[in-house]
Amino acid sequence: TQTLTLLGLESSCDDTAAAVVRQTTGAKAEILSSIVFGQTELHSAYGGVVPEIAARAHAEKLDSCVRDALAEAGLTLGDLDAIAVTAGPGLIGGVMSGVMCAKGISAATGLPLIGVNHLAGHALTPRLTDDITYPYLMLLVSGGHCQYLIARGPETFSRLGGTIDDAPGEAFDKTARLLGLPQPGGPSVQAEAEHGDPERFRFPRPLLDRPDCNLSFSGLKTALMRMRDQIIAEKGGLTRQDRADLCAGFQAAIVDTLVEKTRRALRLYLEDKPQYPTLAVAGGVAANTEIRNGLMALCGELETDFLAPPLALCTDNAAMIAYAGLERYKTGARDGMSLSARPRWPL
Ligand code: KG4
Ligand code: ZN
Repeated sequence: TQTLTLLGLESSCDDTAAAVVRQTTGAKAEILSSIVFGQTELHSAYGGVVPEIAARAHAEKLDSCVRDALAEAGLTLGDLDAIAVTAGPGLIGGVMSGVMCAKGISAATGLPLIGVNHLAGHALTPRLTDDITYPYLMLLVSGGHCQYLIARGPETFSRLGGTIDDAPGEAFDKTARLLGLPQPGGPSVQAEAEHGDPERFRFPRPLLDRPDCNLSFSGLKTALMRMRDQIIAEKGGLTRQDRADLCAGFQAAIVDTLVEKTRRALRLYLEDKPQYPTLAVAGGVAANTEIRNGLMALCGELETDFLAPPLALCTDNAAMIAYAGLERYKTGARDGMSLSARPRWPL
């Protein structure tokens, strides 16, 4: 048996993170520590992540995240077998900060460097948290991503489809902004929708007339803006109820679209006759209760297991990067000092 211990670094969006993951041959991987330093307050005044501010904050925070992750794990750099780092896709300044930090540690210690695709990190998370077997269907829904992947192995993914414009989290955030609700928009829109009538406003269900697994969410924002402006023109402003009804209608459109496209993705996946059919979700939007309930009901109908890792591992973190790096390390992959940061990097 062999025990591998990896440090992972993540800095591709607005979270600076470091984590230590360990695995002994034949056993499940274990998270020894996971530090996430969010930047939400730094960007809140600007209505979105500002790449320049994000990159600077990552560069400032990475060292202390690494120190904290090692301290929490009770280890030193000498106890590690390798360093994994998100090498893309993401905001280039942030990705570069992470890659440079990892190269520095690698140069100073001689530890091998492993570049990890951020999306592979999300897609492998169910293997880190649960005992699930390949192939499984993965739905990635966050503020930056929306796609269906069949995970067939640690480095083998088939992409079935995804958004052609906005990610659903982005749509939630924009909706919140248009209605004067606090950021992040997902939780505030969900809370408003709880006492709203989803039938009062009819939002479009984009691309449902197409047989593929692609989605589109940018039209919802336009529809919302039109409805909002019409109410304001008629009544001079929005009441609490108007806002709740708009949120409920918007959320229902997202749920319907995701459930219907997931049905199609599941049918494609089930054609391969997987032994233990499983749908796993990741990304911040997977926290949404209505979306979860809709997907769970669908899985019940299609006799497929539904798996949602704990929220802290669904959103951006470095444990998933350390774990994906560990899987890559086991295949013999090593990236040297020539590892470069890639803003775009499809799986
Ligand atoms: O995965 P994540 O933390 O970050 C990245 O996108 O990288 O996802 C954040 C997104 C935000 O857009 C946020 O509004 C959304 O997830 N979100 C939700 C909920 N909680 C967070 N969307 C819908 N319903 C929620 N309950
Ligand atoms: Zn992410």
